[in-house]
Amino acid sequence: MAMLRRFPITCWKNFQVGLLNEQLVFLSRSLHKSAASEALEIPATAEEAMSGRLVQPAAAETDDKQSTVSETRIKSLTEMPGPNTLSNLIEFFWRDGFGRIHEIQLEHTKKYGKIFKSRFGPQLVVSIADRDLVAEVLRAEGVAPQRANMESWHEYRDMRGRATGLISAEGEEWLQMRSVLRQLIMRPRDVAVFSDDVNKVVDDLIKRVDCLRGQQSDGTSVMNVNDLFFKYAMEGVAAILYECRLGCLENNVPQKTQDYIAALNLMFSSFKTTMYAGAIPKWLRPIIPKPWEEFCASWDGLFKFSIIHVDNRFAEIKAQLQRGEEVKGGLLTHMLTTMEMSLEEIYANVTEMLLAGVDTTSFTLSWACYLLAQHPDVQEQIYAEVTQTLGPGTVPTADNVPRLPLIRGLVKETLSRLFPVLPGNGRITQDDLVVGGYFIPKGTQLALCHYSTSMDNENFASASEFQPDRWVRKEATDRVDNFGSIPFGYGIRSCIGRRIAELEMHLALTRLIQHFRIGVSPLTTEVKAKTHGLLCPGAPINLQFIGRENLTDSSL
Ligand code: HEM
Repeated sequence: MAMLRRFPITCWKNFQVGLLNEQLVFLSRSLHKSAASEALEIPATAEEAMSGRLVQPAAAETDDKQSTVSETRIKSLTEMPGPNTLSNLIEFFWRDGFGRIHEIQLEHTKKYGKIFKSRFGPQLVVSIADRDLVAEVLRAEGVAPQRANMESWHEYRDMRGRATGLISAEGEEWLQMRSVLRQLIMRPRDVAVFSDDVNKVVDDLIKRVDCLRGQQSDGTSVMNVNDLFFKYAMEGVAAILYECRLGCLENNVPQKTQDYIAALNLMFSSFKTTMYAGAIPKWLRPIIPKPWEEFCASWDGLFKFSIIHVDNRFAEIKAQLQRGEEVKGGLLTHMLTTMEMSLEEIYANVTEMLLAGVDTTSFTLSWACYLLAQHPDVQEQIYAEVTQTLGPGTVPTADNVPRLPLIRGLVKETLSRLFPVLPGNGRITQDDLVVGGYFIPKGTQLALCHYSTSMDNENFASASEFQPDRWVRKEATDRVDNFGSIPFGYGIRSCIGRRIAELEMHLALTRLIQHFRIGVSPLTTEVKAKTHGLLCPGAPINLQFIGRENLTDSSL
């Protein structure tokens, strides 16, 4: 009987642990909209380790100094403040905490300080919301940092005989793939060659805006701009990864592309469900099968789509070689001709990169346009910069972007500060660490709270204000090592697609600003952010795109 009574309690605990850790480490396992959760395996006893150990500050090396500098005691995790399991449960289950993770991050930072722990049953996550402490942790990283437990991703891949890609791989395997890919797309000049391909997609974006606003009675509104930017981001990233067009921005989207979008949506929109896939222990799957089934079905769809496109390109290359022709191409062609990675690894990497590169970019574009619409004066300043720099009608390329500091500032102010699409990042410590005076044992899950640091007035003056030009004023803000705002992460495990995403965003925003004055549609009420894995609009953003050619001087 006692056993029977304990059974549901244990299940419930396991479930909570996986689920809540998943939420707190938002990004981690999947980065961009995560799937499942796993237990973090930090036993409560680890908290006790090192309690009360004394450390001599480095300055206290000489006898003289020793007498003046008092010894600093390293505190144990038991001494670290933070919410308890019960209050977390109430927060998440009764107060819809899942949609407010960014706000909870701020609330907890205010209440418990810039380093705090969250306990879920026997396990814990240490959250760090201080710029300098984040810097300390990331600078101390080893050669193959780990973001979070990716067990459910690995399980799927093992089950289907698929390889891991950069997001899900760890250790030596990850290091090898990373060293191949980082040489191809990590620097702005590596991706500048994709300018023409991306610009063709931007042409279609502008046409699509024209078409959509033509469908509205006011002739200017585009409803739910994120839908448009999702298609743009997907088309853009696929043009680079698959070296082909998918037709996302056409009136009739091809069936295969629609199937892929359905698989992506299944992965993304059923965030909670897919998250449960990893949180629910394996032996419970026969009773609650849906989350795991959906998780696998969406991965099946994503892999299938990538395999079709990679195989198509592979077949073309082989045919070209057989005909004795020179093979020219981009990223995929390079991967397929050099074969520095196996074919399975190529499938896995393009699949994971496409997954990582669509919603992140589209949400950022949606927020950037929303901010422009809400701040017409700033928009006009940026428009003036674009027209003065490029002259009328010039199509911008990657080479022009360095001369458009306000366009770059717009992206940074949106992504690095007001709407960091990944409001937090994760790391599992690979050594024992002392952070903020606390001993943190090896294997602890850290949550790096980027939303809090980017909204902190200590890091950014008037932090709640939209000021793209703060990035132009070359003060402390725009430093590579400004850990108050690292939307693409930092170091050897940082975002591999950063330069691709920036290229897509810079070129699209410049062209939109050249063509349209963007305003808030009367059909939009104030849109707040919510967390759904990523920081996304909590309601549809409806905007007006007024053709610049239709604006008289007085209406400007
Ligand atoms: C606005 C757009 C984007 C944002 C904000 C973003 C952000 C991030 C962040 C924060 C990380 C984790 C970094 C870390 O742990 O230090 C990451 C990793 C990653 N991103 Fe992005 N990303 C974006 C677009 C893209 C694109 C377009 C691609 C692919 C074309 C991409 C592919 C990846 C991959 C593969 C990883 C895993 C890297 C690794 O573990 O080695 N991302 N991204």
